[in-house]
Amino acid sequence: MANPPPYFSAGPYSAPAPAAKDQDAAKEDQDVAQLVLELCVPELREKALLLLSKKREKCEDLALLLWHSYGTMAALLQEIVSIYRSLSPPKLSSEQSTRVCNALALLQCVASHPDTRMPFVNALVPLYLFPFLNTTYKTREYEFLRLTSLGVIGALVKFDDNEVVAFLLTSEIIPLCLRAIDMGSELSKTVATFIIQKIMLDDAGLAYIYASSERFCAVASVLAQMVEELVEQPSPRLLKHIIRCYLRLTDDGRACNALRNILPTVLRDGTFNDLIEVDLTARLWLHQLLHNIMMMSNGGGGPHPVLGRAMGM
Ligand code: TRP
Repeated sequence: MANPPPYFSAGPYSAPAPAAKDQDAAKEDQDVAQLVLELCVPELREKALLLLSKKREKCEDLALLLWHSYGTMAALLQEIVSIYRSLSPPKLSSEQSTRVCNALALLQCVASHPDTRMPFVNALVPLYLFPFLNTTYKTREYEFLRLTSLGVIGALVKFDDNEVVAFLLTSEIIPLCLRAIDMGSELSKTVATFIIQKIMLDDAGLAYIYASSERFCAVASVLAQMVEELVEQPSPRLLKHIIRCYLRLTDDGRACNALRNILPTVLRDGTFNDLIEVDLTARLWLHQLLHNIMMMSNGGGGPHPVLGRAMGM
């Protein structure tokens, strides 16, 4: 807004001049609103994406603005689909990757806001990110896309909403997370494992994993693979998510034998004691996990109806 005319702030009945801080905030809001408009102008879009993704933490209502303003979501989706054809065979430039990651950062903002999260899911926007999770290249450009896309899904599952999990289960996100774990950096592995953890903590999510032995085995073998890798390349954060996933799997008492057979020895023999020494929660979870598995092997529950048959139990 332009400076108010001088008479506006003079005289006994005028409102007090806004504090300098409010003025700054108002100016900031105005800048953000202008940048959102610029997303719809192709020549201005790249710069606007960059500046907005930098400002996104500071602007509380950015999600509402992005979601409700005319043409903005379409512009962001257009950014995303515009690089699909460069994904495979691999032709993605680092400029393309950065630009799309900035668009993804804005989508993450929409995914995080309680008022826009379900509309975002119901509009099936998360599905547009799946091609980025499905790539099999490990270069920086692809890794950056993978990680930022996982960040959007991570933001969706962070709030333990059953509706979000129900959507994700129908969308086959789990195999994509397993692929991202296979292909991705430690950071991508951590976010993907966090997503799987959050989905499994939901009852429908756990039931989904246990609905077939293929699903259970796919998840369990990826977890075990990561545990083995952690021996060489320790990451306390990743280990903690993995332990929580295993612990949740023990909530289905009937899967005991299967779990007992596949739990990596390094989780039982104290290999990681130093790594999680300072993290009380992680230590408790590991302790509980080993306890559950031990109790189960002493005859807790019968064979699992699905796993029992497939795994010769
Ligand atoms: N359509 C497959 C299924 O429903 C999807 C899938 C592949 C999957 N791998 C998985 C699901 C691993 C869960 C875990 O089983």
